[in-house]
Amino acid sequence: MKNYFDQLIECVDTIKDQKIHDFTLQIIYMVDHANWKNKASQNHHPPDERGEYGNSIHSIRVLKITCLILDLTEKTELEKDIIKSSAILHDCTRFGVYGEFSYTVKSHPQLAVDFIKKSGVDIPSPDILENILYHMSQWSSDFKYYPKLDGKDIIILADYIASNENILINI
Ligand SMILES: [Fe+2]
Ligand SMILES: [Fe+2]
Repeated sequence: MKNYFDQLIECVDTIKDQKIHDFTLQIIYMVDHANWKNKASQNHHPPDERGEYGNSIHSIRVLKITCLILDLTEKTELEKDIIKSSAILHDCTRFGVYGEFSYTVKSHPQLAVDFIKKSGVDIPSPDILENILYHMSQWSSDFKYYPKLDGKDIIILADYIASNENILINI
């Protein structure tokens, strides 16, 4: 059976732009593998994300939900690729660039951005850094951001996601 890290690597193929594809792959391999092998969380994440390769499973899920949301937008393929790359990499330093922490480091969005800037890899768009930096908005005081969604947008997204056969929300 394929492990979840291999599945994460396959997810990179959803990115069609070669430069963004290769950038994403390089960053995945440059951070310590613990960032993909460790659990995403002790609690509150789905049960399978609390075990080995939990952060890979979480990253795959965030990408899949991102793709569903992108289906409903008029964004160009290039814009979509930038957002997909951000989704895959958003938690790439959850345990530190070198995997030096055994818990989720609160500043992991900033760590990821600093690491990517210093990595020497060509950054296809500054939007990737900004998307990663703000992803913990609801838990962050430094990088607070409120999504600009009106009622129509929220209902369209909620209905589309809830209607997907692969998404089961516990009730
Ligand atoms: Fe995160
Ligand atoms: Fe996350």
